[in-house]
Amino acid sequence: MDIESAKQRLSCELQSRQGVPRYSAKFVFAPYRICPLGAHIDHQLGPVTAMAIDHGILLAYAPSADREVRLRSLDYPGEVRFGLDSPGEPLAGDWGDYARGAVRALTKCGHKLNHGLVGVISGPWSEGGLGSSAAVGVAYLMAIEEVNGLNVTAVSNVMLDQDIETDYLGLRNGILDQSGSLLSRKNHLTLIDCSTASHEMIPAPDSTSSWSILIAFSGLNKALVGTNYNRRVAECAAAARILLDAAGRSEETPLLGRVRDIEYAKYKEKLPAELARRAEHFFSEVERVRSGVEAWKKGDLHGFGELMTASGASSISNYECGCQPLIDLYEVMVQGDGVYGARFSGAGFRGCCVALVGGAKAADMVDSMHRAYAERQPELAAKAFVVVCESDDGARWLSEDNTPSAA
Ligand code: GLA
Repeated sequence: MDIESAKQRLSCELQSRQGVPRYSAKFVFAPYRICPLGAHIDHQLGPVTAMAIDHGILLAYAPSADREVRLRSLDYPGEVRFGLDSPGEPLAGDWGDYARGAVRALTKCGHKLNHGLVGVISGPWSEGGLGSSAAVGVAYLMAIEEVNGLNVTAVSNVMLDQDIETDYLGLRNGILDQSGSLLSRKNHLTLIDCSTASHEMIPAPDSTSSWSILIAFSGLNKALVGTNYNRRVAECAAAARILLDAAGRSEETPLLGRVRDIEYAKYKEKLPAELARRAEHFFSEVERVRSGVEAWKKGDLHGFGELMTASGASSISNYECGCQPLIDLYEVMVQGDGVYGARFSGAGFRGCCVALVGGAKAADMVDSMHRAYAERQPELAAKAFVVVCESDDGARWLSEDNTPSAA
């Protein structure tokens, strides 16, 4: 993503629409994330991996003279306008809900907000699969905090952003997306333990200097609220309830991450078939994350990639979160020459797939992958595309000369 020209476009818009002189604009960049391993287990408190990429949400902003928030988007129409004291409850149902949710989350947490802001926001690829909703929330949180002189750590912002998504927007998701956007470091794998909200940065070994991230968009997009996402979360809870009751631990919160391996082995026969598949996905994915981290540490990209592909297969057959276009895309990517492994990048209900590819090969594969996908899904071909990305640092402010300053 050409951040410099995106900054130019946003600051011109901020000046012409909101009257903010160009030299007064500030910028916050919240990157999207990929999730190489750890599909759909964050909400069950499993371990997951993430990496920020060099594309994401850019917000240009300046403090407002009053307690009002006034926002425009380069991607969505209209102006969003609300006061700090009445961000809106229930949801307004428009693109401004993330900003309303950010003000609400900060206020709920006891932060005193005295200053509103004016801003213009933009981000490519809102098709889904890269945690873009979380990145939007992160950008608003950081901007509102900055104009109010609040010093909030990246780890606290993970929780604030999750509050926007779960408590305000109603998605029963975990902390994968916001952790990936906030905590990542370039050329590192971020390992997040969702049961303790702690994380570890694992550097890419020297021998892996020639890997690339390939992202392929299916052409399908729709918001996660409204898919089977929340239903699958409820099925995981139902499976956990049965296992914990069987283990005599009915008082425990029904999350698969609370079920011990030994309890799963002993009582899994009690699960009805559908719930057994959800549980199987959880426990096998936890194992894949553990083995994948070991492979990454050893520089074994083939091993790591095979686990990604196995994660994709389990998402399809056990978690049943795919849809035909995404499954086609996954199969096309897995077969690509030089692909270590591939899987749905996000929830898998729409959006994109991600592949880890031997560095020199990635650019050559863009056209052939698109062609192979177009043969399977001709009606989506015009909206589908394939891009090569790089890993990046987590969310940060960008100064006028584009020098990043960390969150
Ligand atoms: C979405 C959710 C995340 C996570 C992934 C699947 O991106 O927002 O919390 O559950 O799906 O791994």
